[in-house]
Amino acid sequence: MNIIPKFMYGTAWKEGRTSSLVTTALNAGFREFDTANQRKHYFEAGMGEAIQAAIVAGQVYREELFIQTKFTYQRGQDHRLPYDPAASLSKQVEQSFASSLEHLHTDYVDAYILHGPVAQRDIYPEDKEVWRAMELLHDQKIARTLGVSNVSLQQLELLFEFAKVKPKFVQNRCYAVTRWDSDVRRFCKKNDIIYQGFSLLTANQQVLTSGAIVKLAEKYKTGAEQIVFRFAQQIGMCPLTGTSNSEHMKADLASAQFSLTAAEMTVVENTGV
Ligand SMILES: NC(=O)c1ccc[n+]([C@@H]2O[C@H](COP(=O)([O-])OP(=O)(O)OC[C@H]3O[C@@H](n4cnc5c(N)ncnc54)[C@H](OP(=O)(O)O)[C@@H]3O)[C@@H](O)[C@H]2O)c1
Repeated sequence: MNIIPKFMYGTAWKEGRTSSLVTTALNAGFREFDTANQRKHYFEAGMGEAIQAAIVAGQVYREELFIQTKFTYQRGQDHRLPYDPAASLSKQVEQSFASSLEHLHTDYVDAYILHGPVAQRDIYPEDKEVWRAMELLHDQKIARTLGVSNVSLQQLELLFEFAKVKPKFVQNRCYAVTRWDSDVRRFCKKNDIIYQGFSLLTANQQVLTSGAIVKLAEKYKTGAEQIVFRFAQQIGMCPLTGTSNSEHMKADLASAQFSLTAAEMTVVENTGV
């Protein structure tokens, strides 16, 4: 069964607390998890440990979970590389992926993400080599879907054209000032790609305190954070939250329990522009 993620728990910057926070997130009800084989910012093995413990305890089945990880170029890593830097990029993808499976105690991932193209503009031969290697993992059914992160519309268009296995996910930092990445989201919608938004709160602090959002939070007896997450879901996005607070975890998931009207959606869409 293919799960379409609705609200993902992100595990960046949690270091030694990764395992216990993933356990807390599982207990709060999260079933969709994001990591990367990039020890500089993520502790992938910590996430794997918590997931394995939950499966062994009979709390969840692997099939109920959506596990997503990433391939990160060397320039995004520190010295703790999950591959041989002297190997070809295709080999690096193979090695990084094999190490991810080991960290995550699984024999497949639900989504495998290219953490970001090699440069800010365009798609380079390096990206093409990496994508082809990712497609091989997809062909073997060990990477169920593929995706790309930190892309501009121009890069997404180029990658989409090149790809034999089309990206199913885009994961981007989502700024309200760009109408919540509207250009990229429009392309995603047209091409059956699910947009995952991160830093929805941290990149949009001014939105959280704006009068319009505060008023909506009062109306729905919730926090400004949940208004942003609800907006994201209703507009077709899969939001990520990286909270370390169990009450925030529950409150964030509860944002699925109310609906903004069409007029309110427009208000939120234009806040920050
Ligand atoms: N692809 C990429 O390059 C990339 C880059 C960055 C992040 N990501 C992914 O996205 C995930 C989320 O990152 P993020 O930047 O959105 O979040 P984040 O940096 O983990 O932070 C959310 C912040 O908002 C605070 N917060 C306050 N109230 C909250 C509430 N009700 N719900 C949630 N947070 C609340 C949190 O504090 P409390 O802990 O006190 O709640 C925390 O400080 C990461 O863990 C990672 O998986 C991907």
